[in-house]
Amino acid sequence: MGSKVAELATRRSHEVFSGYAEHPPELGEGIKYDLTDAKSIARAIRTSEPDIIIHTAALTDVDRCEIDKDLAFKANVLGTKALAEAAKVAGAFTLYTSTDYVFDGSKGMYKEEDPTNPMNYYGLSKLLGEAYCDSVARACVIYGAKPARGKINFALWIIESLVKGQRIKLVTDQYVTPTLNTNLAEMVLEVAERKLPGIYHLAGATRVSRYDYAVDLARAFGLDGDLITKSKTWEMKWAALRPLDSSLDTSKAAAHLTAKPLPLGEALKALRSELC
Ligand SMILES: NC(=O)c1ccc[n+]([C@@H]2O[C@H](COP(=O)([O-])OP(=O)(O)OC[C@H]3O[C@@H](n4cnc5c(N)ncnc54)[C@H](OP(=O)(O)O)[C@@H]3O)[C@@H](O)[C@H]2O)c1
Repeated sequence: MGSKVAELATRRSHEVFSGYAEHPPELGEGIKYDLTDAKSIARAIRTSEPDIIIHTAALTDVDRCEIDKDLAFKANVLGTKALAEAAKVAGAFTLYTSTDYVFDGSKGMYKEEDPTNPMNYYGLSKLLGEAYCDSVARACVIYGAKPARGKINFALWIIESLVKGQRIKLVTDQYVTPTLNTNLAEMVLEVAERKLPGIYHLAGATRVSRYDYAVDLARAFGLDGDLITKSKTWEMKWAALRPLDSSLDTSKAAAHLTAKPLPLGEALKALRSELC
């Protein structure tokens, strides 16, 4: 997500500095720092003198956060606190990317003001980080045409598996509002440029099960949907619990932003044109 925001911001003629830990940016100027080291965060902010900080870095591996809570706390909570403190000194506006996993999934189509209740440590650490920043953008299952380095995203994993003729298992009982990274980057950048404070749910506009998402994706790309088999969350051997329905209601973003949350069909069309 961070590299997509940097790409779009550069296209809009902003001067962009991309913070990184292990993977320097392909585009523009990179600043190496470590979220678990407050001094390096302060140094990065002093060097770049930003007006706006879009904070997308995090320990995002949900199961790793469950197993290594100390690291998750240091990166996602203390790192965000240190970033916000250094931003205050620099007079910079901070936008923090958060997650649907701040909710327990018992209700679905969550609005910004709904009570939070994370089921896993990743969700808790991200929720605690929300308190420090001016603006909070909550996304949900981010996917896009280009994999982040060292990682693959949900859509590309499905497409690559089906292209190779491999069978994949997707849960039918987890509902989400999958978010195309280019659509997310446009909404995030608008919130940041307008310095809109508070929480925004910036996700796709369509609630769908992970299984149905895969089937829709296969259809959109002319791939064999019969390779997708159904499973249930209880069958998966994950270290961390997952919310069953963490779909986000994006009506606030739709009402207030020029860049709108895309319905799934449109997002998949956009993904296709970005990939093909
Ligand atoms: N992926 C999703 O489905 C999803 C859903 C909802 C919300 N979110 C949130 O959206 C944001 C972006 O997600 P994403 O999927 O784009 O994440 P990602 O691909 O895992 O990227 C996270 C970035 O954080 C950086 N990072 C990790 N540990 C660091 C450290 N100790 N110091 C400095 N940088 C560090 C990494 O930089 P290097 O590459 O340089 O190591 C990495 O590029 C995150 O805040 C995440 O919590 C994600």
